[in-house]
Amino acid sequence: MDKIEIKNLMYEYIQTDNKKKKALDNVNLTINKGEFIAVIGMNGSGKSTLARHLNGLLLPTAGSCIVDGLDTKNETTIWQVRQKVGMVFQNPDNQIIAAIVEDDVAFGPENLGIMPEEIRKRVTESLKAVNMEEKRNFAPHLLSGGQKQLIAIAGVLAMRTDYMVLDEPTAMLDPSGRAAVMEAVHKLHEKYGMTIILITHFMDEAISADRIIVMHDGKVAADGTPREIFSDVEKIRKLGLELPLASQMVHALRKRKIEISTDIYTDDELVKALQL
Ligand SMILES: Nc1ncnc2c1ncn2[C@@H]1O[C@H](COP(=O)(O)OP(=O)(O)O)[C@@H](O)[C@H]1O
Ligand SMILES: [Mg+2]
Repeated sequence: MDKIEIKNLMYEYIQTDNKKKKALDNVNLTINKGEFIAVIGMNGSGKSTLARHLNGLLLPTAGSCIVDGLDTKNETTIWQVRQKVGMVFQNPDNQIIAAIVEDDVAFGPENLGIMPEEIRKRVTESLKAVNMEEKRNFAPHLLSGGQKQLIAIAGVLAMRTDYMVLDEPTAMLDPSGRAAVMEAVHKLHEKYGMTIILITHFMDEAISADRIIVMHDGKVAADGTPREIFSDVEKIRKLGLELPLASQMVHALRKRKIEISTDIYTDDELVKALQL
């Protein structure tokens, strides 16, 4: 029962001209507890629409989304679902509500009716987990985009959700902000056992997941380990995606007749292979 099951999921938006737009087309997926999943795919392939189904922000036009046995369409259990599945969005400015960092992190647990003493404990622990404890009395607008995302992540951690869905959380960040957010996300997975569903357009972020789901035109076009996904170069190109930077380097080197294995996907692997 500890999993998210998406069955024959279909979702249609009604556009302003009243025409229907099918954004998800018969998606079937199981997300197991403890997984670190990256979701990739071209713009408009349905990634955000899929993400918003996982905690019932959107409800299926047809089919279902079942979180630990709870159907998101069931109004009587939707709050339970929201306590299980936390969300972090792309724009760091749109998800901070309070005027002080610690109040923002406390907002979620406060809404759950948790005791003040327990909330204080969680706020401290969550800010520590993302290396932001020293900013706890700061005004969020004084923080960088990356730091704001870390606060949003701490807010989800303070709710103690089992699943965390992040919809392109690094898209608006500079490289150091991106690195800090990715480090925090990996820590939540490893240290707190949180199930991670990370939507990203950075292939170098996707490569660090245990499993990659590729969306294309509202459908699941591929589902496998990063190695399985990125070894099919032809398919990756057809789906409008790029290879991770290390793989691109390998192909460029091979074009110049430099002998190097094609089985290289991460920067670490590339560095190792080049140490002759
Ligand atoms: N609010 C909306 N109204 C109408 N169409 C939408 C809306 N949001 C998304 N779409 C359409 O649904 C499809 C999937 O969008 P989305 O899930 O945002 O894709 P992605 O996150 O992969 O870029 C796209 O064709 C997009 O134009
Ligand atoms: Mg999107």
